[in-house]
Amino acid sequence: MSDIEAIRAQLLGDIEAAADAGAVEALRVAALGKAGSITALLKTLGAMSPEERQAQGPAIHGLREAVTAALAARKEVLDAAALDIRLAAEAIDMTLPADASPRGSVHPVSQVMDELAEIFADMGFAVATGPEIEDDWRNFTALNIPETHPARAMHDTFYFPAQMNDAEGRAMLLRTHTSPVQIRTMMSQEPPIRIIAPGRVYRSDSDATHTPMFHQVEGLVIDRGIHMGHLKWTLETFLKAYFERDDIVLRLRPSYFPFTEPSAEVDVGYKQEKGRRIVGGNGDDEGHAWMELLGSGMVNRRVIANCGLDPDEWQGFAFGVGVDRLAMLKYGMDDLRAFFDGDLRWLAHYGFGALSVPTLSGGVSA
Ligand code: DAH
Repeated sequence: MSDIEAIRAQLLGDIEAAADAGAVEALRVAALGKAGSITALLKTLGAMSPEERQAQGPAIHGLREAVTAALAARKEVLDAAALDIRLAAEAIDMTLPADASPRGSVHPVSQVMDELAEIFADMGFAVATGPEIEDDWRNFTALNIPETHPARAMHDTFYFPAQMNDAEGRAMLLRTHTSPVQIRTMMSQEPPIRIIAPGRVYRSDSDATHTPMFHQVEGLVIDRGIHMGHLKWTLETFLKAYFERDDIVLRLRPSYFPFTEPSAEVDVGYKQEKGRRIVGGNGDDEGHAWMELLGSGMVNRRVIANCGLDPDEWQGFAFGVGVDRLAMLKYGMDDLRAFFDGDLRWLAHYGFGALSVPTLSGGVSA
């Protein structure tokens, strides 16, 4: 008994004095390991008589339990102390002012899309969206671009493999323009309709002025008695608000798009200043020129009928324009590829603060 008492006193004292986790582990091995002192005591139980064992057993097992508990308690204390030391070393005072300003900015494309939404909301247009993975019926056929139409080849379309055709057997593709949102809107909404549809579009094309992904915004108005005067007024009002100047002069040139009839390409007057195109003024005036900016027209009767509407009752106009192009013209970038490089210096220079939300009253870009 006194033997056991002595071992207990010695071990508990040593454990209490252990300075770190390594010392605790060494004590555990010395007491409870294969050759440990308590393990040796436990082994002696086998050779004892039943009476002896009844007397010694509980004492030896009690010793083992006490030492096991002491080891665990000491380890916990040491771990907590180690954590305190680490926390003290890694402390951050959250009340101190930041010593670096936060990174990040709103990309010009996002900013311009917000400006467009703001400008068109003021004219009663809602924002509509559609998927970037589209079917060839909505991207082409419903827009009066049948399979044999040369416009299909012109679009340099990214198609998905035939195994990905939809339930109706339609080929899937990355939409080549935002015009399929016209189809989606006319098929899901009762006229009158006034929407813009900004978003990403894809074409297999890449050089200084073309990237495989770019951005467009589509406009669509469907109502009774709509004519080209409405189209011209809408575009003029939009461009004056967007470029924040009153001397925007438009020239509508007859053109061809399968989904509009008649179709017009819209040019805007500009002037070259310090190597930059500044939109404004009459393109025919001295020092000015015309630049093609938008595609537009009266929605083709066939497109209206394809969406299940009666073209004798409903008419409309549509337009499409490149958002990246609009951003470049307003904010003076000259290389489209830089838009999608993710270069932090470019983003810091051309990006917008998260709080500079465009409003009409503040000047859209302010
Ligand atoms: N979808 C045409 C394109 O990507 C742009 C366009 C032209 C859209 C005329 C229209 C439109 O809505 O009326 O080239």
